[in-house]
Amino acid sequence: MKDKIAKADDDVQKIISRKRRKGDEDRKVGSDIFDKRTLETLYKLANQNYLDILNGEISTGKEANVLKGIKGDEYYAVKIYRIATSDFKKMNFYVDGDPRFKIRLNNKHQLITAWVNKEYKNLERLYKAKVNVPKPITSLNNVLILEFIGDEEGNPAKTVKYQKPKDVDRFLDDLLKETYKFINDAKLVHGDLSVYNVMNFNEKPVIIDVSQSVTSDNPIANELLKRDIGNLYNDFRKLGSQMSKEEIETAIGVEDGKILSLKK
Ligand SMILES: Nc1ncnc2c1ncn2[C@@H]1O[C@H](COP(=O)(O)OP(=O)(O)OP(=O)(O)O)[C@@H](O)[C@H]1O
Ligand SMILES: [Mg+2]
Repeated sequence: MKDKIAKADDDVQKIISRKRRKGDEDRKVGSDIFDKRTLETLYKLANQNYLDILNGEISTGKEANVLKGIKGDEYYAVKIYRIATSDFKKMNFYVDGDPRFKIRLNNKHQLITAWVNKEYKNLERLYKAKVNVPKPITSLNNVLILEFIGDEEGNPAKTVKYQKPKDVDRFLDDLLKETYKFINDAKLVHGDLSVYNVMNFNEKPVIIDVSQSVTSDNPIANELLKRDIGNLYNDFRKLGSQMSKEEIETAIGVEDGKILSLKK
């Protein structure tokens, strides 16, 4: 068994280092984040022509690593959930109330797959509703491939947390327009909206990290919405915005904590 894993590890390093291109920084992807199942999933995606190589890590989160993938001349973001460190209690909580996922999830792999699938489906729905999110490309098991948000040299954009908008009011205005579409057109509530999950891409907001987002008819939607509004308010106040909570609510089509388009 150990041999098999070591062999798989070698192979993925080969895939990863096979076609390094000039100009790309030569960061190696630590294979310790890949368990055997993940490696097999990555091979499958490579065989299905979604990826040529993985080239460098963009971020290491609590539960997922985001890597830079390359296919032909295009960059992609490859989000890989780590089985070992995923918060299954949280996942169960969010997946449970969602009418789109009425299955009994009695093992961790199934639950992670449902979680990744949920992020994919949410992104698809948001993308169709013309909300500024990365276009979802495909998902398989614990791996999600997304449109890369960054420049043509492969430098990823930063989140608002690390790249303060030049014009905070204008940026917030744009972000609230995206949030309006998120809630009223895609009919989803983000659930973890903050400067950590909004990218500043050439001074335009791109909303990311929607695995926990729920449909607006979900029993927990109102509670999540309230938290999102509170976070937006606090985060942008710190950045210098004068907007009140009520003004934020109005801009995103919410009144007294209730989504107006749902009342109709
Ligand atoms: N499509 C993308 N293009 C470029 N960079 C991205 C993209 N998606 C995510 N990133 C980068 O990866 C980081 C982490 O992504 P994300 O917020 O989706 O996962 P996470 O916070 O690690 O997830 P979790 O907290 O559930 O483990 C982002 O802050 C951003 O810097
Ligand atoms: Mg995040």
